[in-house]
Amino acid sequence: MNDLIEFDSKRQVFHLHNGNISYIFSVEEGGTLCHLYFGRRVQKYHGELKYPRVDRGFSGNLPGSLDRTFSRDTLPKEYSGAGEMDYHTPATIVRQENGSNALMLKYKNYKIEDGKPKLEGLPAAYVENEKEAQTLTITLEDELTGLEYDLLYTVYREVSIITRSVKVRNTGKKTVFLEKVASLQLDFVDRDFDSICLPGAHANERHLERSSVGYGIQKFGSIRGTSSHQMNPFLALADRKTDEFSGDVYGFAFAYSGNHSFEVEKDQIDQTHLVIGINDYNFSWKLDAGSEFQTPEVLMTYSDQGLNKMSQAFHEIIRERIVRSKFKHADRPILVNNWEATYFDFNEEKLKTIVDEAENLGIEMFVLDDGWFGHRDNDLTSLGDWFVDQKKFLNGVGGFASRVHKLGMKFGLWFEPEMISIDSKLYEDHPDWMIQTKGRLATPARHQFVLDMARQEVVDDIFNKISAVIKDTKLDYIKWDMNRTITEAFTATLPANRQQEFAHRYILGVYQLYERLTQAFPSVLFESCASGGGRFDLGMMYYAPQAWCSDDTDAVERIYIQDGTSYGYIPSMWGAHVSAVPNDQVGRVTSLDTRAKVAYFGAFGYELDLNELSEEEQETVKEQVAFYKQQRHLFQHGTFYRIDSPDTA
Ligand code: GLA
Repeated sequence: MNDLIEFDSKRQVFHLHNGNISYIFSVEEGGTLCHLYFGRRVQKYHGELKYPRVDRGFSGNLPGSLDRTFSRDTLPKEYSGAGEMDYHTPATIVRQENGSNALMLKYKNYKIEDGKPKLEGLPAAYVENEKEAQTLTITLEDELTGLEYDLLYTVYREVSIITRSVKVRNTGKKTVFLEKVASLQLDFVDRDFDSICLPGAHANERHLERSSVGYGIQKFGSIRGTSSHQMNPFLALADRKTDEFSGDVYGFAFAYSGNHSFEVEKDQIDQTHLVIGINDYNFSWKLDAGSEFQTPEVLMTYSDQGLNKMSQAFHEIIRERIVRSKFKHADRPILVNNWEATYFDFNEEKLKTIVDEAENLGIEMFVLDDGWFGHRDNDLTSLGDWFVDQKKFLNGVGGFASRVHKLGMKFGLWFEPEMISIDSKLYEDHPDWMIQTKGRLATPARHQFVLDMARQEVVDDIFNKISAVIKDTKLDYIKWDMNRTITEAFTATLPANRQQEFAHRYILGVYQLYERLTQAFPSVLFESCASGGGRFDLGMMYYAPQAWCSDDTDAVERIYIQDGTSYGYIPSMWGAHVSAVPNDQVGRVTSLDTRAKVAYFGAFGYELDLNELSEEEQETVKEQVAFYKQQRHLFQHGTFYRIDSPDTA
């Protein structure tokens, strides 16, 4: 029974809904898929709504028709191609053999099915049984090229989320190049919106920014090869008066960890046009006859009760249908991480003192951060050499791990799987695995370089090396870091006319490695990290239920970072630690109590030398640990409300 998606064949109207939301569009003149409505649940749609046909001064009309009132430029649509006299920023651009990029996408057919299909090689929201969601696939076609666009819409029954993605199929005879292929287009009529986004910087991520949407196109995005510290792949469009508890807001989160773009355009008649997808900067995908391209997925929600309800919908879908594995509803262990305690300056003896004290205080996991492998005594060397530094660990890292395990604690390790140092065995063996453009000097960042994750042999090699360490140490947790972004993008595996596939292929390689490791080692808890929160997105979350929020551990600054983060992401994801004072990043002194109260709101831990605390402070830590153990389920998985903003509270 199609109880979540209805098709009115007489009026050619599709209506997706659950108890809270409705999304409606129709097939109109010339096979044009026109958007009609997204908002509060409509009980029964009788086809009343039709946007006025108006002669919009020299606007494009339908080919072969004398009717000047069907304006191709201004009618709200579900998905627009370039060159069809719709001058909004297009959802898709396709360069064809003769150099033209004009398309004419027309409705072809539809399919409604229970459940939700998996997206090959990509993270996405999932279903646990077929009854909890329904999926509508609309096929649009461009007759000349034989290109077909499947627009996928899944509506969940219990949570106010609709997911959207697009699959392009070349059923024609000629090769084309996809130069832009968005996952979502959404047109709003007669709205005066504020945009709410989450910009930031290293050690200063996801600060809430609210501004009114004006004329022109505003693009929020990343071209760094990561979802980035600078602009998180999240956006909300809210009515001007919407606050935390009242008013209309639409939220959008992109389940993708690479280059992304959110384009918001206010047009000549005050409509708002939104396009979300892979950033078209340096993107082009060769689509040979018979082949397909699947875009990543956007999750969207609507709330008529302000921003809290929007965030709660995202929190719920993340907890229930993005995070996989046994950790989904699990209480996350309290950890101590040695990074800010020792940086690179440690040996086994020093670490043992931290481990012993951690056990004494009731902490549940010890995480050994950067510096345990190769001969990495500083950040100049050894990335890619995922075998232990015998100077630091006489009995290997396995020996050290078993000591931690004997104390009844879990053991975690830091890796930076996608990286290579010039001073490494990996570089000696495979200099060509490093991303670089022939004839140019590669640009270093933190003295390191990036591996070509688009190469299968690279993914295989890193998988084997990390697997060996996981087995040797009976590892419980991995902190997967990524401390630099990509430049001089190039892969030796592709010809010149396919180099612009690289950024996406890189991320597909990262996802493949994550998939293989999480499937092979289901009891390892993964925490993603990218110099703090530089890859904090739903794509990562599908594999790694936690993410290190920020390298800024100052309690006061963290209030703002965590506040911004809360708009799109559930607290169980936010790695949040108590560190030493004066704080290493900003020099501020805050009380141990304040530091803990801020960190309680995430996946809680400590990041300092526990032996340097006074006896009184150690007692306080013991109490904090005991308190968090009692309350953590609520902190991590409870319903989260923002009562006030940090500025006014
Ligand atoms: C990044 C991480 C830190 C730490 C260092 C180690 O900056 O965000 O938490 O792991 O790398 O080099």
